[in-house]
Amino acid sequence: MDKKVILITGGTTGIGLSTIHKFLNELNENIEIISISRSKRKIENAKLALKQFGKQVHFFQADVSDKSEIEKVQKEISTKFSKIDVLINNAGNIIPGGLEDLSFENWNSCISNNLSSFFYVTKIFVDMLKCSKYPSIVNISSISSKLAGASMGYSVAKAGVDMVTMCLARELSKYKIRVNGVNPGITKSGFQVNNNLMDEFQYESFLDNISKDYPIGIGECKDVSELIFFLTTEKAKWITGSMYIIDGGRSVNI
Ligand SMILES: NC(=O)c1ccc[n+]([C@@H]2O[C@H](COP(=O)([O-])OP(=O)(O)OC[C@H]3O[C@@H](n4cnc5c(N)ncnc54)[C@H](OP(=O)(O)O)[C@@H]3O)[C@@H](O)[C@H]2O)c1
Repeated sequence: MDKKVILITGGTTGIGLSTIHKFLNELNENIEIISISRSKRKIENAKLALKQFGKQVHFFQADVSDKSEIEKVQKEISTKFSKIDVLINNAGNIIPGGLEDLSFENWNSCISNNLSSFFYVTKIFVDMLKCSKYPSIVNISSISSKLAGASMGYSVAKAGVDMVTMCLARELSKYKIRVNGVNPGITKSGFQVNNNLMDEFQYESFLDNISKDYPIGIGECKDVSELIFFLTTEKAKWITGSMYIIDGGRSVNI
């Protein structure tokens, strides 16, 4: 049987790792999963966390904001796989601050990590997506793309991701490649801790405080990965160019 090949960026922790869990739970025998991320330590931890499935996930080490690193990894991947069926652009980070606090370097880093990377990865892998019978892309954005927040570089990059999603859906429809976006609200992945905005202890009170703005509570990674998974399935075959807010009602609670 023709195995579905899933490529996810940032599959080692949080929403990415949870999405790999979801695919393995649903389709274990019939898929191959490839993940691209930077930290060796996180890759080793993710391998341990996925051991229960008894199936190898193909982890590659590269920085998605560096196009030469992605090109190198693509060459390696194309020796093992002839196509990609699903691309999930998920890797991202957050750097806090607005006009007054954000340095030029941090602005550039935020835009390249959260926006340019989506363009690079898609451009470099699109020919492999064209080889799939039912190709699709899911871009992980954020509700920050729609709400002006305190992390300006991040919000601007995610607003760009939403437009990348729409432009790609339009352009790639001729290859029947569906392209959709997911815009989560605050999700318990440790994102703010992973990006050194706070420590574990502060994170607990941050979640506590912010939950007041979330009518049905803060999300778990698996809430988001359910939606990501759905968008890649046959059931979503008529959905393209759409973006889905998933935020426990945060955006309507203003
Ligand atoms: N958690 C939230 O509240 C929330 C809300 C809205 C949207 N999101 C979005 O959801 C996505 C996943 O975030 P998460 O919450 O799951 O955070 P996370 O647990 O910190 O996961 C981020 C993943 O991306 C990888 N990564 C980051 N920068 C990378 C780079 N330059 N190159 C390659 N890999 C990179 C990380 O691994 P390495 O560090 O090893 O590279 C890690 O695997 C992000 O796009 C984020 O903006 C999160």
